[in-house]
Amino acid sequence: MIRICMVGTGYVGLVSGACMADFGHAVTCVDINKERIEGLRRGVIPFYEPGLDRLVLKNVDEERLQFTTSLAEGMQGADVVFIAVQTPMSESGEADLQYVMKVGEEIGGLLEDYAVVVTKSTVPVGTNRAVAEVIRKNLKSDVEFDMASNPEFLREGSSIEDFMRPDRVVIGTDTERSEELLRAIYRPLYLLDTPLVKTSIETAELIKYASNSFLAVKISFINEIARLAEAVGADVRDVAKSMGLDKRIGSKFLHAGLGFGGSCLPKDTNAIVHIASEAGTDMSIVRAAIDVNANLPGRAFAKAERLAGGLAGKTVGLIGLAFKPNTDDIRSAASLDLVTLLKKAGCTVRVHDPAAVENFKLFHDDITYCDSPYEVCEGADAALLVTEWNQYRQLDFERIGATMKAKVFVDCRNVYDRAHLEQFGFVYDCFGRADQMSEPA
Ligand code: UGA
Repeated sequence: MIRICMVGTGYVGLVSGACMADFGHAVTCVDINKERIEGLRRGVIPFYEPGLDRLVLKNVDEERLQFTTSLAEGMQGADVVFIAVQTPMSESGEADLQYVMKVGEEIGGLLEDYAVVVTKSTVPVGTNRAVAEVIRKNLKSDVEFDMASNPEFLREGSSIEDFMRPDRVVIGTDTERSEELLRAIYRPLYLLDTPLVKTSIETAELIKYASNSFLAVKISFINEIARLAEAVGADVRDVAKSMGLDKRIGSKFLHAGLGFGGSCLPKDTNAIVHIASEAGTDMSIVRAAIDVNANLPGRAFAKAERLAGGLAGKTVGLIGLAFKPNTDDIRSAASLDLVTLLKKAGCTVRVHDPAAVENFKLFHDDITYCDSPYEVCEGADAALLVTEWNQYRQLDFERIGATMKAKVFVDCRNVYDRAHLEQFGFVYDCFGRADQMSEPA
């Protein structure tokens, strides 16, 4: 049994810790947030993630998973210490490493026996060497340790499945000893034939940024095609489907709509632009992807404005706020910008989301929060589908239409069809499907 200390109980840390415990290892998760740790001991998950509560409780019950606020306690006898604290985007767009460095400092002061210190947080190339340096400086005795990079590729909303069935595991190390320990942690995945990619530390660090940036580029690319499709009379869904059948392209991440939000793609695209500029080179494709993405809330606004014959002073309903379904996360969500644009136009804004309301209130507390998508549409001059939660995929438009002031619907996630909506007297628009755009009422 491998003893693991996981520092940080955010998405990455908590999911990785719980899943590693489920692999049969002894995991102690450490977080400085006392309230969070007390909650976790009772199985209270600090964010919305399907299935995580059950996994945590099961592994706590079976005594493989513990929680503490004391790093010293967490590191007691640990073979591997994972750093999974946040690396937020600083004002200038680069990754803010203060939390990672601070943890490195503390680990150095507490290390008593050989351990592998592994970064799981997404960190710019060179960070692991800097963390190793800070650990070394703070060591109290002549203890040996190894540094490794093991980036995480899980997605919010499907993180357990992503962790348990990854496309690959990346391990960046310099020594055989650390490589063996990390391989042993992931041994249960060998049954699934999961490729384990061993690289240098710098390469592992870059793989994570390159992967997230590529996904962002793919999304922005299809969103540009969507704009073009509208202009030339084509349908982006068919274009994406046919492109995706080419195995070299693949069908995933080709859904046009409001673009990429969340805590990772926006942060990591900005960070790689910085990393490149510091290295004296340029990521022009990623910069373009960021620009395309930034314009999408404005496009949604313009679509609603066109169909409604202006939005100034009108009532607008947003169905969904989270940056994607199955999460309560609203970081860099398109809904944030959309609400700002609507407020600027003097609109009354009504919103609903199954999970993200409390988080959204921290940014916009002066809008109307409703109990259902139907309530959102009451008296509205336009409604926009912002997040494609499953429960929004079968809306009753007869019911919606009966209470709206004007039957205007902008489907920002391409869930519905014009013919279906027009049947109930709506005018309809979506993203990138030329023959699905109704004429303004
Ligand atoms: C992303 C990556 O997908 C993970 O592999 C990575 O581990 C994670 O970041 C991270 O760095 O921690 P996540 O932010 O949870 O995961 O969300 P995604 O599922 O990637 O979606 C990102 C955004 O892109 C969402 O706003 C989604 O609506 C949008 N998207 C996605 C599209 O607009 N079109 C698509 O075709 C796919």
